[in-house]
Amino acid sequence: MNGLLTLENVSTKKIQEIIDLAIAFKNGKKKSFPNVKMANLFFENSTRTLYSFHMAMLNLGITPIDFNTDCSSVKKGETLYDTCKTFECLGVDGLVIRHGDDKYYNQLENIGVPIFNGGDGKINHPSQTLLDLMSIYENFGKFQGLKICLMGDIKHSRVAHGNAEVMKRLGMEVFICCPPDFADDTAKSISIDTALETCDIINLLRVQFERHEHHETMNASSFHKDFGMTTERVAKMKDNAIIMHPAPVNRGIEIADDVVECEKSRILTQMTNGVFTRMAIITMVLEGNL
Ligand code: CP
Repeated sequence: MNGLLTLENVSTKKIQEIIDLAIAFKNGKKKSFPNVKMANLFFENSTRTLYSFHMAMLNLGITPIDFNTDCSSVKKGETLYDTCKTFECLGVDGLVIRHGDDKYYNQLENIGVPIFNGGDGKINHPSQTLLDLMSIYENFGKFQGLKICLMGDIKHSRVAHGNAEVMKRLGMEVFICCPPDFADDTAKSISIDTALETCDIINLLRVQFERHEHHETMNASSFHKDFGMTTERVAKMKDNAIIMHPAPVNRGIEIADDVVECEKSRILTQMTNGVFTRMAIITMVLEGNL
């Protein structure tokens, strides 16, 4: 099994190569992989990741194969391994997988086609991390020395955990800002005022209600009051600072409605960059460069 499961073992030099290729695709570079077929196996809901991988495949001349768990033999008890092995036997050349289990891919070592991790549990979302990095690099032209604050539901966020690991290696200063219930040891915690006044990037995170345990009840309006990105808080940010969010957003909880598309927001750019980043990831894996 090869592909892209996590960025932990991918060098910063290779990460820069992926970003450069993604930017080249955005600027019109073309690649074609005729006769290649890839399946999108999503065991958790997705709009951006699923359909930007789908678009990336179409842009690369790859035939995407969709998979609906509700209509599949998963409903009869088929295991993740057996679903993947079945698609390998059917002749696909790669699998994009999103699954709710942390590191689900550890059970897929005997799968003989590349696997592209579309998000696992609370651990990794490597293609999201790369599109976030592409968006930062487009904006600032560098990583070294940039200050980023991951803000919101850190503990339940695979984006926070994956981004922090790579961003630290790239020389960024990483901080977190969140209520105590959502904190973990991802990075040093700072106050929201310090984050707004000192950071180059505020990386908002979705409150992951679906991953909360029964005891982790939260009050959405008090969260918005204490940690939500509002127009007033945007005004306190540095002149050239930007707002990011992997989306989907909870409007009125971690972000106010009128901030989603404000001048500092790069949320829509992140979505667009997701297609080019995934084109770069697929290309580099299929060509044996990743
Ligand atoms: N950012 C992200 O992973 O969005 P989806 O859940 O819609 O794929």
